[in-house]
Amino acid sequence: MTNLSIPAALAPMAGYTDYPMRKIAADFGAAYVVSEMISSVAMCMNDRKTAVLAKIGEGEAPVVLQIFGHDPAMMAEAARKLLTGDYAGCSYAAPPAGIDINMGCPVKKIVTSGDGSALMRTPETARNVTAAVAEVCAKYNVPLSVKIRAGWDADHINCAEFAADMARAGAAKITLHCRTREQMYMPSADPAHAESTAQALRSLEKPVIFAGNGDIETRTDAERYLAAGCGEVAIGRAALGNPWIFRELSDPEHFVPPTLDEIRALSISLVEAVVREKGEVVGVRESRSRAAYFIKGMRGAARVREHLNHAETLAEFVKILETIGEE
Ligand SMILES: Cc1cc2nc3c(=O)[nH]c(=O)nc-3n(C[C@H](O)[C@H](O)[C@H](O)COP(=O)(O)O)c2cc1C
Repeated sequence: MTNLSIPAALAPMAGYTDYPMRKIAADFGAAYVVSEMISSVAMCMNDRKTAVLAKIGEGEAPVVLQIFGHDPAMMAEAARKLLTGDYAGCSYAAPPAGIDINMGCPVKKIVTSGDGSALMRTPETARNVTAAVAEVCAKYNVPLSVKIRAGWDADHINCAEFAADMARAGAAKITLHCRTREQMYMPSADPAHAESTAQALRSLEKPVIFAGNGDIETRTDAERYLAAGCGEVAIGRAALGNPWIFRELSDPEHFVPPTLDEIRALSISLVEAVVREKGEVVGVRESRSRAAYFIKGMRGAARVREHLNHAETLAEFVKILETIGEE
């Protein structure tokens, strides 16, 4: 398995997977990238701030737009708007490559509205949402994927039957984050959940693409998901500071780990791109947590983070990033 290319996507991450980050993932060989989550309600209300999240820029890998909500009609209408570009502020350098439904978000505000991972507790609503959005996707000839978790908590693990249910309702792909809602983002994801889900999906009449997700930081981690029956993987946090992982997975034969200079240069070019997109004040503010991913684990990371938190301008920010790894 060592030299095979493993298809890997950039997983959706609110506050991170905007155009600048997705472009980097594309440059490093991500098979496709997923947007930040987009509120179906806000799309239906023509909210311009929300529309910005759906921007597709030049040079991206195929971009899948992720929506959240629980009302089938609103979710279908949001998908229609996104797929046809029928909304104010639409900016597509290429058409969306697909729609993804968020059924995994664990955040309290989201689940108390019945959205995100709360849908795993209301399978009938989830089915109706998937069927309604699938109909729109079929009309515009793009695939629908659904992103789920292992279940609500350890006593309610239902990913296998839930995934099969969503596939029967019209999803062409399932992405499984191998944690429960209760686990949020810790402790470790358990690829064993992928095994039962892969089995359930294989038993269906139609072929369903199955992507594994959770704690993939190396090729060995990704291979664990393939061994569990996934056809591809989705990478979240690890890609934020190490987009080289897409190269490692897609072209292992030619993969060379990045030098410190390359890490510095890439972190600076990301911040510059974010500032170009959002202006200096917002761009610098948003870049603090993003830059932190590039220095994670390095000696002196805490000191650099502290300095970054006080940088106000792009020039100050860049100057600090030029010193990373010096200690
Ligand atoms: C800051 C942050 C924001 C996220 N936002 C989303 C989101 O908008 N939609 C979604 O489906 N998952 C979201 N996720 C979950 C990730 O897509 C992924 O499932 C999770 O981080 C596990 O993968 P990882 O261990 O590779 O990071 C988010 C995760 C993080 C850390």
